Amino acid sequence: MITVRAPATSANLGSGFDVFGVALDRPADVIRVERAERTTIELSGVGSQYIPTDPEKNTVGAVVKALDAPARIQIDKGVRPSSGLGSSAASAAGAAVALNALYDRGLSRKELVPIAAEGEAVVSGAAHADNVAPSILGGFTIATADGVESVRTDIPLVACLPEIAVSTRDARRVVPSTASMKQVVETVGNAATLAVGMCRGDPELVGRGMSDPLVTPARAKLINGYEAVQTAARNAGATGVTVSGAGPSMLAVCRPGTRREVATAMLEAFADAGVDARAYQTQVSSGATLFDE
Ligand code: HSE
Repeated sequence: MITVRAPATSANLGSGFDVFGVALDRPADVIRVERAERTTIELSGVGSQYIPTDPEKNTVGAVVKALDAPARIQIDKGVRPSSGLGSSAASAAGAAVALNALYDRGLSRKELVPIAAEGEAVVSGAAHADNVAPSILGGFTIATADGVESVRTDIPLVACLPEIAVSTRDARRVVPSTASMKQVVETVGNAATLAVGMCRGDPELVGRGMSDPLVTPARAKLINGYEAVQTAARNAGATGVTVSGAGPSMLAVCRPGTRREVATAMLEAFADAGVDARAYQTQVSSGATLFDE
């Protein structure tokens, strides 16, 4: 049996819609696989009752097909579905790493990224790799049609998950289909600033580069209390706050030593808006970890 711990991720980081992502050190899915004649999927953990076990409808089914690797697959969900923390991606990424090892397919981690992204397409309707790339490779990742790059970095983060359901499909419907040249120029500048900040491990630059005039304003409307939570996090020491992935989680980049205050401030602001939430004090972390049993 092979066991893989695949971490939650936060995609977009504001200015890098469908391109940027980071691995978080928590929460995570744990995937166990063993060879079988036909594929079966067993689910446990948070939100598992909402996830189909039919391989045709589950995110790992496409991974099984691509790797030609039928297996008994047990998924213990630590990442809540529809959270904006890459729940389906963690399962797809974990399955890709686990099945590649189980069947000795010999693919590199980078080669597994597009395979896991196909699994993402099953649930979100689009094969973007901005969640699966960090869950497989770790660090800060840049996923484009031409490939994927990953850099290790040390940036303190808080991911705050409110008890609101926002599906990726719904959140993609509100994304504007056009942009002005002014918005494009602003977004490119911010994305470049953020990438430099990640390479330097500089939370000030990362936070400055997170703002985006295009996608985040549309999606923020789907999150009760968004503006108040953003302001509270900034006042408590965050350098930047944005929607995590498709939401409803919010991601705050923190100055060193401020994570606890930022997490508390975000939770209180959500509570004031009548929304229960939980906060993960986390950081940019490594990708899927493989355990051979
Ligand atoms: N880039 C994706 C989105 C991530 O924002 O829709 C969620 O799967």
